[in-house]
Amino acid sequence: MAKRQLQDKVVIITGASSGIGRATALALARERARLVVVARRRELLDQLVTEVRSRGGSAIALVLDLRLRENVETMIAGTLGQFGRIDVLINNAGFGYYGSVENTPQPVVREIFDLNFEAPLLAAQLVIPIMRAQGGGHIVNISSVAGKRGLPFSGIYCATKFALNGLSEALRLEVRNDNIDVTIVNPAGTESEFGKNIRRGDVTLPFKPIGYIQPAEDVAESIVSCLKSPKVEIYPYRKSRLFAWLNVLAPSLLDRIMLRVVRDRLQARRAPAARQ
Ligand SMILES: NC(=O)c1ccc[n+]([C@@H]2O[C@H](COP(=O)([O-])OP(=O)(O)OC[C@H]3O[C@@H](n4cnc5c(N)ncnc54)[C@H](OP(=O)(O)O)[C@@H]3O)[C@@H](O)[C@H]2O)c1
Repeated sequence: MAKRQLQDKVVIITGASSGIGRATALALARERARLVVVARRRELLDQLVTEVRSRGGSAIALVLDLRLRENVETMIAGTLGQFGRIDVLINNAGFGYYGSVENTPQPVVREIFDLNFEAPLLAAQLVIPIMRAQGGGHIVNISSVAGKRGLPFSGIYCATKFALNGLSEALRLEVRNDNIDVTIVNPAGTESEFGKNIRRGDVTLPFKPIGYIQPAEDVAESIVSCLKSPKVEIYPYRKSRLFAWLNVLAPSLLDRIMLRVVRDRLQARRAPAARQ
């Protein structure tokens, strides 16, 4: 099948002020897509818009906190008002939480689900009728390998990504006949501000991603290539697919491997109790 052209496609990218979202915007500037870049930090979005335009692309910024439902509505209505169509929605904004399941406070659970799960859900619900009316579209949900296997002290974050994956699998069948593609993107650890911005709970050691760390530009290239030739699910770091498979085939073996990898974190949490 011929690859899709992205020139003049209207693409919303949430969480575009840094990391994967920013890299994806710059990669799409090269394709001459019309971008709507969304996040809270105005200055970074303005810089991005300037950079996109200097590369010959086109972009507008929407400064919105997507934890709030009305702001997700504003994002979709604002884009439609400006361009009259929405071809691609990339649900990328998200943050992590580093703490035990046992001690995660309920407000943190609410907040992380608001951004990582409910914002993509509402954005998809609002964009589907628009895409259906225009004859098709593409929804891309940035999940994680942490949405395929639970990681210790990231349990609540993993839960948001598992939820996003389940939603995406159901949705892609529901909108299949409307010519709307739904893609799950499962990055491995990625160079970005994710570690700096992670909310910290009851873990005293610094946050350390598990395994290989890929450049955000690699994730962006995978996303662009999947917009041209849609796939149901991609792993920008290909070997991490094996990690997901191993968890399906032999979860206790993976438990044993991971226990070794995170031994220092587990011991650091046990230490205060052992001293009592
Ligand atoms: N880095 C990794 O290792 C990794 C691995 C797998 C998956 N992921 C996923 O990739 C996605 C992008 O993360 P990243 O690694 O690129 O991290 P990042 O550099 O921290 O980017 C997160 C983006 O989300 C935006 N954001 C945060 N809170 C927001 C809010 N309330 N409203 C609107 N925007 C908000 C941030 O912008 P503002 O602060 O300006 O709002 C920023 O642009 C996330 O969904 C993350 O879960 C990351």
